[in-house]
Amino acid sequence: MPVFISSIPTIEEDDLKLCKELLSKNNVENIDVKLPGFEDKEHYYTNTGRAALYAILKALEITKGDEVIIQSFTCMAVVVPLKWLDIKPVYADIEQETYNISLESIKGRITDKTRAIIIQHTFGIPAQIERIKEYIDEINKNRSKEKEIFLIEDCAHCLNIKKEDKYLGTYGDVSFFSFGQDKVVSTTQGGCIVSNDRELEKKIERVYKKIPDMPESMVKYNLRYPILWDLIKKVYYKPQVLANSKYFSKFTVGKFLILLFRFLGLIKSQASKDDFGDPKEGVYKLSVKQKHLLKNQLDKLERFSTHREKITEKYSRLLDLDLHGFLIRYPVLVDYPDIVKSKLQQIRVIAGNWYNYPVIPRGIDLDKVGYTVGTCPNTEYVMEHILNLPTGLDVTAKDAERIVHIVEPHLT
Ligand SMILES: Cc1ncc(COP(=O)(O)O)c(C=O)c1O
Repeated sequence: MPVFISSIPTIEEDDLKLCKELLSKNNVENIDVKLPGFEDKEHYYTNTGRAALYAILKALEITKGDEVIIQSFTCMAVVVPLKWLDIKPVYADIEQETYNISLESIKGRITDKTRAIIIQHTFGIPAQIERIKEYIDEINKNRSKEKEIFLIEDCAHCLNIKKEDKYLGTYGDVSFFSFGQDKVVSTTQGGCIVSNDRELEKKIERVYKKIPDMPESMVKYNLRYPILWDLIKKVYYKPQVLANSKYFSKFTVGKFLILLFRFLGLIKSQASKDDFGDPKEGVYKLSVKQKHLLKNQLDKLERFSTHREKITEKYSRLLDLDLHGFLIRYPVLVDYPDIVKSKLQQIRVIAGNWYNYPVIPRGIDLDKVGYTVGTCPNTEYVMEHILNLPTGLDVTAKDAERIVHIVEPHLT
């Protein structure tokens, strides 16, 4: 089978069976699902990570005219909820070694209007959250309660990861997770909010109560998606029907199915550069059926994490890079990433491009997301060289060696 970096790398036979069962039932009983490290906290499950961030911003009463600092090496999913609420995103640069927000850059971005900083643990690499927290705590001492700056942890890439014996997601005031199609565990789409502050939890509760249940059509989409992608993966390279044709030699059944399912609206990409959506049609509670799938995935999380760690360590050893832990994707900086990407495709490995633009997808209208070219030099360097190697269950140690063999000569 080909290795896909995205599109449900953690879904296995038992998950597929469960999706089919859930699709065939009218109702299932509600269950209590807790994320590792947050067992004693309330969980507020949403249909996506971006919906979770939207609810957090509402609970924090951050509104039009306020500013929120985010790193520019990111995905539009983080910017969308800010736009929904007319909040101004202020972009900070990253540290090149960790791909995470730089404290030095944050220092130059704070104004009177700053109300929050989103700390993204990119690829599962922990950000400098304690140092940032120390700095912000000092600033908050001189601010009124209404002007306080909150720290929101974006844990979309990390679950079950500790920094110095403390789980990522427990450092800031509040955190959100994503269970999107390419995340640590997946329910096709999904998200969760966990707060580290009791007062704030009450506010989140009030906002959350007003969020509608997910429409049944969306529940079905989310449960069908893994089944369809499993089918696509199985026939992705098969058969080369028109292998001798001048124009259609790259055409395979798998690629045809992708086009067909996209046309029928049965699969969609995670982010579309022209579609910012609308909170009225984009914010729901996670369905109970998906909570069952989430539980099934979480029961296997230790195994997923161990596997990712093994592959991460293998890449680091072979490439002589200092990256460790359960990375969801393994970042490398190469010359001409597109060329390396197509060489990897020849061995049936589909690599990733988080993030080959300030706020992906590449080509997004930078005016619309409020990014000014030249303001984040590290992001702008990294985006031209980044390539993500897969660490998911379908990558074997042997695959990792073959991947490294292709990538190594191109490292910057
Ligand atoms: C850094 C980061 N944060 C948040 C999200 C939100 O994810 P979603 O709304 O797709 O669940 C994503 C999605 O890829 C992401 O990469």
